Amino acid sequence: MTRILGIETSCDETAAAVVEDGRKILSNVVASQIDLHRQYGGVFPEVASRQHILTIMPVIRQAMTEAELDWDELNAIAVTYGPGLPGSLLVGVNMAKGLAYGRGLPLIGINHIEGHIYANWLIVDDSPHEISFPVLALVVSGGHTELILMTEHGQYRRLGHTLDDAAGEAFDKVGRLLGLEFPGGPAIERVAQKGNPLAFELPRAWLKGTYNFSFSGLKTAVLRFVQKYEDRVSSASVDSARNRRIAVSPAPSVIRQLPVANLAASFQDSVIDVLVEKARMAAEQHQVKLIMLAGGVAANRLLRQQMAERSALPVLYPPPALCTDNAAMIASVGYFRYRAGHRSGWDLDVISHLKLTDD
Ligand code: KG4
Ligand code: ZN
Repeated sequence: MTRILGIETSCDETAAAVVEDGRKILSNVVASQIDLHRQYGGVFPEVASRQHILTIMPVIRQAMTEAELDWDELNAIAVTYGPGLPGSLLVGVNMAKGLAYGRGLPLIGINHIEGHIYANWLIVDDSPHEISFPVLALVVSGGHTELILMTEHGQYRRLGHTLDDAAGEAFDKVGRLLGLEFPGGPAIERVAQKGNPLAFELPRAWLKGTYNFSFSGLKTAVLRFVQKYEDRVSSASVDSARNRRIAVSPAPSVIRQLPVANLAASFQDSVIDVLVEKARMAAEQHQVKLIMLAGGVAANRLLRQQMAERSALPVLYPPPALCTDNAAMIASVGYFRYRAGHRSGWDLDVISHLKLTDD
């Protein structure tokens, strides 16, 4: 049996987990900083790294305690070294180095995006599911939107990526425009349930002939819509004291009049329609055996449901808690890399724009 301690601090979750043989979760501890960052409407990098420093040790201790393991029962320590916020990544990487050196364990640097894909290997209800290659992975998170063809463990080809905003970033920005709490993804999903996705015809950037994505036009379309309301509301002098352009979030008087549920539902429908259609086409063209959803946006129920309905192939996605940032997924990649003989040196450094593929 191979047991890997995973450490993840690339953004605003301080996380540690122990995973056995790449698939069985022995412990999975996530300390979320969302409540700290909410007041800023997004992740505040300096606040994030300071908080990681405070929570990393207790989180790792808890992961070891819950796994009921001694340090000498571990085989290696795997840590995210990119992509992510440099100051946040540094905390995890330095902690992992110190622990690995002190306990005489191998150190393995892990790519965060690869981690999101491997969340699909983790066993959730005691019955390991079969995974056969080639696989098409749709990685949709706050920082990334990529279509990845995976032919073997550790073998990736990027078929497409976003030219501007990531899908999760678009959810977060539009959530702010609609006066919803951060992060926008879950908030939009919640209010969209009460809305009509056909209420507004929002743009879909098909970028035909490519597997690339673009969400900035869609975001701007929502912004224009909100601005029209802002003008209407201010000219009726409901909120004349707050005569300002929309910077972060519109004035409460504007939000009260906005058709938030219909806008959220139409926006969500537009993003998901493009994601699903492109993934379906790429899967067909490359004759994959399986489609995997990965990253925070993969927690979205409409995305899961639409992907399963519109593709004839099996569709796999992790449970919501394993879609968003966690360290079990990092430990899972760690196992497959450990098995393949990968080891990092003590000079492992953070790479905030680390890529999964060379292109
Ligand atoms: O993977 P993740 O935890 O962090 C990054 O690596 O970026 O993803 C966070 C992103 C946020 O943008 C959040 O709004 C989005 O995932 N997200 C969702 C949902 N849950 C989280 N987007 C749409 N629907 C959801 N249910
Ligand atoms: Zn992530």
